[in-house]
Amino acid sequence: MTNEPVSQLPATRQPPALSTVGLSKSYGRVKALRSIDMELYEGEILALVGDNGAGKSTLMKILSGAVAADEGEILMDGVPVHLTSPIVARRHGIETVHQDLAVVPTLDVTENLFLGREIRIGGPFGRVVPLLNKRAMRRAARDHLQTLNIGIPSVRQRTDTLSGGQRQAVAVARAYAFGHRIVIMDEPTAALGVQETEAVVDLIRKINEQGIAVILVSHNLPQVLELSNRIMVLRAGMNVGTVETQRTDMEQVVRLITGAEVRHTA
Ligand SMILES: Nc1ncnc2c1ncn2[C@@H]1O[C@H](COP(=O)(O)OP(=O)(O)OP(=O)(O)O)[C@@H](O)[C@H]1O
Ligand SMILES: [Mg+2]
Repeated sequence: MTNEPVSQLPATRQPPALSTVGLSKSYGRVKALRSIDMELYEGEILALVGDNGAGKSTLMKILSGAVAADEGEILMDGVPVHLTSPIVARRHGIETVHQDLAVVPTLDVTENLFLGREIRIGGPFGRVVPLLNKRAMRRAARDHLQTLNIGIPSVRQRTDTLSGGQRQAVAVARAYAFGHRIVIMDEPTAALGVQETEAVVDLIRKINEQGIAVILVSHNLPQVLELSNRIMVLRAGMNVGTVETQRTDMEQVVRLITGAEVRHTA
C-alpha cells in the first residue's frame, strides 16, 4: 500500500487554514503533548484519533483557546495567532464542540445556542441597552433547529433535562450556526445512539459542505474512515503520523494508534 506523506502533496496548495508548530503541553509530570506539528487545510475534514489519554482533547482545547500551550505556535493561513481565550478563537472563526461541557446545563436550549452572542435590543440614540431580545432568540433557535432537523421538545427547556444526544445536537447546532472557518468536534457522537449518531454525522457533512474545515476527534474508526479526508494519529502526546483516508485502511490506522507502525508525516 502506498501512503504518501502529507509533505509530498502538491506544492500548489494554499497555506493551511490552521496549523501548529512544536506545540507542547504538560500537566505536572504528564507530557500531554510533545512538539505537535499539524495542518488543517481549507474545507477538509481532518480526523484526530488515538487511545485514551493520547492528548487529543488537550490539543483541541489549545486550538479552541481554552488551554494555553507551554511551547509552540499556532498559525492561521500561515500567520501566527494568539488564541488566548475561547472568545478570541471564535473571533478567528473557530467554533468548538467540547467532549466535556458541550453545553451549559443550567441554561435553556436558546441560551445555549446564543451563548456569548445574544441578540440585544438597541436603545435610543444608537445606544445598546443590555436587554436581551428573548423572543427573537427563541424564534431564531426554533428555526435553526428545524432547519437542521433536530428534534428538541422546546427551546425553553434547560439542557440538563435533555437526553445526551439532544444535548450534543444543541452543541453541534451552535457550531453550525457560528463556526465560519473551522469547527472542532471532540467525540461528538461518543454517547449517542444509532439514530442520533446519524443525525450528528449528517450535521458534520452539512457543516463541511459550507466550506468549513472540520477537526473530528473520534474513537469510531469506521466513522472516521467514512467521513474524513485525512487522519492524524496521536500516541502518548506525539503525532505519530498523518495519512490520507483514501490511501489507508483500518489495519494501518490501528497499527499507528497502537505503535506497531510509526510515521512522522505531519
Ligand atoms: N487538566 C488536567 N490536569 C492534569 N492532567 C490532565 C489534564 N487534562 C489532561 N490531562 C492528562 O493529559 C493526558 C492527555 O489527556 P487528553 O484529555 O488530552 O486525552 P484524550 O486523547 O482526549 O483521551 P480520551 O480519548 O480519553 O478523551 C492524559 O494523561 C490526561 O490524564
Ligand atoms: Mg478526549
